[in-house]
Amino acid sequence: MDFRLAVLASGRGSNLQALLGAIETGQLPARIVGVFSDKPACGAIAIAREHGLHTVALKPRDYADRAAHDEALFSAVADVQPDLIVCAGYLRIISEKTVRRFEDRMINLHPSLLPRHPGLDTHARVLAAGDTEHGASVHAVIPALDAGPVLAQVRLDVGRDDTPDSLADRLSPREHALLVASTAAIAGGRARLAGGRWVFDGQSLERPLQLDADNQLRPEPAHA
Ligand code: GRF
Repeated sequence: MDFRLAVLASGRGSNLQALLGAIETGQLPARIVGVFSDKPACGAIAIAREHGLHTVALKPRDYADRAAHDEALFSAVADVQPDLIVCAGYLRIISEKTVRRFEDRMINLHPSLLPRHPGLDTHARVLAAGDTEHGASVHAVIPALDAGPVLAQVRLDVGRDDTPDSLADRLSPREHALLVASTAAIAGGRARLAGGRWVFDGQSLERPLQLDADNQLRPEPAHA
């Protein structure tokens, strides 16, 4: 399969692992042509190396500013000629110039039901706000943080006893399934960006797709 994925990550790499697993089982018709990071010692880079993948990890402090770091890291990304760049827990803000360079080819996994709770510490903020529902979103990356059009979401009820850690633990496997299903929809040609909107199965999406219990992406009913 020759749909080329570049993965960006800063963390433990469980989402990268999920993508690799889905490629192995044939669920995701793609291959990972490089893993890129701002943290050379992170789990994602270790996992990528174990799998013999091409890796480039560049520390921001070795560069004069954000633009210079982005320029270096994303030149390496461009070198692998990705069809899609997947930000799977890449925890740096990407400069506008770089976002524009890869417009319509970059998605991000965010741990909240966007547009609620962009930015960091989403699990704690969901609890502080008294939300009864939490979840994760896969959205197109645009220059404004966590504000690009949302392709798909997965939802989770918030329980009375939930803590930020319990929410993170319960959300994690659902995030993996959401990222795999969303990436597979794009790689398989079912989902694409056109003029800043998502098109899924030939229809312009009015609202995000929802991941069901069988890990299938479904259009949300009009009155949901
Ligand atoms: C995920 O929770 C993702 O939503 C967030 O960062 C985390 C990455 O986890 N943006 P991992 O590194 O993939 O395990």
